[in-house]
Amino acid sequence: FSSFLTDNFQRQHDYLRISVTERCNLRCLYCMPEEGVPLSPPAHLLTTPEIFYLSSLFVSQGVSKIRLTGGEPTVRRDILPLMNSLGSLRSSGLRELCITTNGISLHRKLDSMVDAGLTGINLSLDTLDPFQFQIMTRRNGFEAVMKSVDRILEMIKLGANIKLKINCVVMRGLNDQDIISFVEMGRENLVEVRFIEYMPFDGNKWSKAKMMSYGEMLDIIRGKYPILRKVKDHKNDTSKTYEVPGFVGRVGFITSMTHNFCGTCNRLRITSDGNLKVCLFGNAEVSLRDILRKSNGGKPIDEEAFEAMKEIEMGRQQGSPSAKGLLGYGERERELLEVIG
Ligand code: GTP
Ligand code: 5AD
Ligand code: SF4
Repeated sequence: FSSFLTDNFQRQHDYLRISVTERCNLRCLYCMPEEGVPLSPPAHLLTTPEIFYLSSLFVSQGVSKIRLTGGEPTVRRDILPLMNSLGSLRSSGLRELCITTNGISLHRKLDSMVDAGLTGINLSLDTLDPFQFQIMTRRNGFEAVMKSVDRILEMIKLGANIKLKINCVVMRGLNDQDIISFVEMGRENLVEVRFIEYMPFDGNKWSKAKMMSYGEMLDIIRGKYPILRKVKDHKNDTSKTYEVPGFVGRVGFITSMTHNFCGTCNRLRITSDGNLKVCLFGNAEVSLRDILRKSNGGKPIDEEAFEAMKEIEMGRQQGSPSAKGLLGYGERERELLEVIG
């Protein structure tokens, strides 16, 4: 394993998240304002050959899992050719090719994506009530999302090698009523439903009152399923996993607010305009796009890209895989780092 992708805390950064578009076809209350987010000029975005090139560099250094995110990745026009090209990296050591999607148009592309080598789908769905869906996403589309969910479950039943997780951001007073219905999905279906603590982002109108904590969600679920029990998590999981004995599926919690997981985070990120960063909330960025696009003065591009990656990794090794922008995070992060290192 490449030494510069392993840090002082022995975290192996073998998981690369690539944002392939800033655009989205929904306007979830907790994520975006009604008018959407400011978009970069198209020329600033990474092209498919650039994404493929960078991915192959990372895979050559030990990255074994790639997740495509957005915005909403399926709105990228050439998402299928992109997936096909990334799928070819399986022969170079890529083991998992995943997508995080809202499912609106997934059902149309799903079969081709699975053929291309897709192995994991994290589908964002916050409610099982069509009316509430419209309130939370400010758009229509509940039926389309359910069509995607049904098709994924059908493919799994037919033996396709895909893992389905549902991401459900819980907002008090909006969708906390749905928690039990989501747990019920796991009775017959091979799905992990993950309840996510609502996090503050710039301009998402976060309030503590609307955030439902891991503890509260557990209490609600235990009230109905007292036999709920903890399952051992994988080393770098962001979620805490549970099972209801007898259920096929599982339940998880992403506790970004009350129990942060920065200390075991192994994610590398490439933004849609080509910046490399190690933390969702961090600012340390280097433009891999600029390195790829400039005339390289005789130095091989990959050497220079590696140097830039190393620099970013050094920043992380010096103690900040941090989530500084987040309430209370700096404090907890420092405590965690003291314990670890
Ligand atoms: P897998 O572990 O592969 O299932 O993916 P994931 O959970 O990392 O990715 P996903 O895109 O499904 O994101 C799930 C939730 O984790 C979202 O609410 C993200 O906002 C949150 N998340 C992802 N990465 C980070 C991170 O580095 N820090 C924090 N605080 N939250 C994150
Ligand atoms: N708090 C928690 N999770 C969020 N997501 C988007 N915004 C927030 C937020 N403010 C989740 C989405 C999606 C994942 C990529 O991030 O639900 O599943
Ligand atoms: Fe944000 Fe995802 Fe909702 Fe789009 S679907 S608004 S990217 S959370």
